[in-house]
Amino acid sequence: MDGVIVVENLVKRFRDVTAVDGVSFSIRRGEIFGLLGPNGAGKTTTIHIIATLLRPTSGRAWVAGFDVTRHPGEVRRRIGIVFQDPSLDTNLTAYENMYIHGRLYGMGGRELHRRIMELLDFVELKRFANKVVKYFSGGMRRRLELARGLLHEPEIFILDEPTLGLDPQSRARVWDYIREARRERGVTILMTTHYMDEADELCDRIAIMNNGKIVAMGTSEELKSIVGSDVVLARFSKPICVEEGLVRECKVLPDGRVEMVVENASKVIPRIFSYAEERGVKILEISYRRPTLNEVFLHLTGRELRESLGPPPVMPARRLWRGR
Ligand SMILES: Nc1ncnc2c1ncn2[C@@H]1O[C@H](COP(=O)(O)OP(=O)(O)O)[C@@H](O)[C@H]1O
Ligand SMILES: [Mg+2]
Repeated sequence: MDGVIVVENLVKRFRDVTAVDGVSFSIRRGEIFGLLGPNGAGKTTTIHIIATLLRPTSGRAWVAGFDVTRHPGEVRRRIGIVFQDPSLDTNLTAYENMYIHGRLYGMGGRELHRRIMELLDFVELKRFANKVVKYFSGGMRRRLELARGLLHEPEIFILDEPTLGLDPQSRARVWDYIREARRERGVTILMTTHYMDEADELCDRIAIMNNGKIVAMGTSEELKSIVGSDVVLARFSKPICVEEGLVRECKVLPDGRVEMVVENASKVIPRIFSYAEERGVKILEISYRRPTLNEVFLHLTGRELRESLGPPPVMPARRLWRGR
């Protein structure tokens, strides 16, 4: 088997809800792989099956070659996980939260102490080691959970909505730690997110999920090419609309700039230059962008990734990780 994580035709039904509906993918060693989709898409359910916390209704999954339902112990030893919902004991200190986790994984003594301090240092929380977690900000708590997930040196790190609800600065910091965890510790990362910028920024490959199914999978660039268009933005010396044939759509924005949807910006931009020149119009400013992952999602599902963000689905808190 090739991938570090291999999922084959996974299905999970909860009574009348099919949360995961025939999902397959394979993650290579050292890859950062993202499941991107709106609330309720089935992302958390998928990773809970991979992490041995839920049994699939049908289909199979392997982690480092071990079947998740047949060898859950082998799987658990090899993965670290950061849950979507906060799972720290807020009445304990950062150190104590780490210590308990280490003991659960059979660690102890000087080695455990050394690892705890090294990881608290990694997430820049060393000087808060003996502070009680209830006084921590949301960003600090998330960083502590990241450190805790890496404590037992997992080969695979699973992160469920790693920056949910964090401010932009804390998010950027969490992104840095995720990249460093891959670079310096060589971990393979499986993460979920409903933030398109996060998937775009971090993931080598992205699987777009909707209603329990993967609707597209690939690198960010591959996914964007599905839309088959770029957006060119120009400011002309007088607002003109470039005729159809040259561009797919053209509209003048309230600020006077002209927005054009084109098939391929690098081919069309030179022709826009000649078009303007022939009409004695100057180009004062011109730029283009690739579609966003939100536009990819819209193209594939007919709805916006953003719009579909209702309140999070209500379900029982799961803390099964502390042994069952
Ligand atoms: N334990 C459960 N019991 C019943 N329904 C559930 C349970 N867990 C998840 N679901 C439902 O399955 C669907 C997928 O949920 P989830 O995997 O949490 O999606 P995501 O993580 O993408 O937001 C949702 O409709 C959710 O309400
Ligand atoms: Mg979720």
